[in-house]
Amino acid sequence: MKRIAVVTSGGDAPGMNAAIRAVVKIGLAKGWDVFGVRKGYAGLITGDILPLGEREVSGIIQLGGSMLGSARCPEFKTGDGQRNALSQLERNSIEALVVIGGNGSQTGAHALSRLGFPVVGVASTIDNDLYGSDITIGVDTALNVSLEAIDRLKVTASSHHRAFLVEVMGRKCGYLALMAAIAGGAEAVIVPEQETDPEDVAGELRAAYDNGKAHAIVVVAEGARYNAEEMEHYFQEHQERLGFELRVTRLGHVQRGGAPGSFDRLLGTRSGAAAVELLANGKQGELVGLIKGEIASTPLSDVVANTKTLDMHLLDLARVLAR
Ligand code: ADP
Ligand code: F6P
Repeated sequence: MKRIAVVTSGGDAPGMNAAIRAVVKIGLAKGWDVFGVRKGYAGLITGDILPLGEREVSGIIQLGGSMLGSARCPEFKTGDGQRNALSQLERNSIEALVVIGGNGSQTGAHALSRLGFPVVGVASTIDNDLYGSDITIGVDTALNVSLEAIDRLKVTASSHHRAFLVEVMGRKCGYLALMAAIAGGAEAVIVPEQETDPEDVAGELRAAYDNGKAHAIVVVAEGARYNAEEMEHYFQEHQERLGFELRVTRLGHVQRGGAPGSFDRLLGTRSGAAAVELLANGKQGELVGLIKGEIASTPLSDVVANTKTLDMHLLDLARVLAR
């Protein structure tokens, strides 16, 4: 192995830069040439590839986002897109690719690997919906951003007889919402994995004040049937009967833009380093993630064939703790 490239794809996540830095530094330490692909798979298709040295990855470990940029690239889902990407890799004499990203990005990595190109994935998405890693790069920082917002909302909630709703990201996965609800001490949580009746949520929020609590907060996953928009609508429609107002905060991309905390810097670093070691050991077609506290790898074929599930016991725990 002489020349490898690294790409970040899909939603950026805090800690991606730490992973890029580790791939570059460990690759260089092995005497390889390391290249970066700009703007995700879009840059791979157009050949937006640049050499990366130690100085290019200096001073980035503490930064959120990705110094290489990222993209959603529908073209890469097509056979033509993937073949164009392969031609660019060949034109630049790249022998292997490290793909840092989430579910969609690793599906793309698997596609390249099936076409015969050596690829190793690094599990990175704030959604934590990727099979093959108990926790992915970016989750911890995104969670801490959500908690800061929830803590602040509690302060103002305590001064008014109002209920507050916080919507967090996660696509179709309720992990961020559930963990934010537990760690933030919320009174209710709504996740896509379980059907929720807004009337029950209203009951839980009312009970919080009736039981003498100073605040009533519900955390909602954006992918839930009753997300922020739907809940706001429901509360407006039934306000007189419900007897209280709901104030809504959608955290949106704010969660993604945080500076990576120590956990994500270390996870990014360890994962990036492990990806290079896999390649050095002649392995490919694998995803690097954190499993039971250890850096481990899972075949990309298993990653794309499986769905990570939410631990429903934690949902029960959240409900008991909310009383
Ligand atoms: P994430 O990787 O964060 O889940 P996306 O789902 O948007 O983000 O995927 C990132 C990119 O991965 C997509 O824009 C596309 O280029 C590529 N991708 C997604 N799904 C596939 C697929 N089924 N086959 C090939 N490439 C895919
Ligand atoms: O996958 C990460 C994520 O932040 C999701 O939580 C969210 O639904 C989506 O990306 C938003 O995508 P975009 O940045 O393309 O609007």
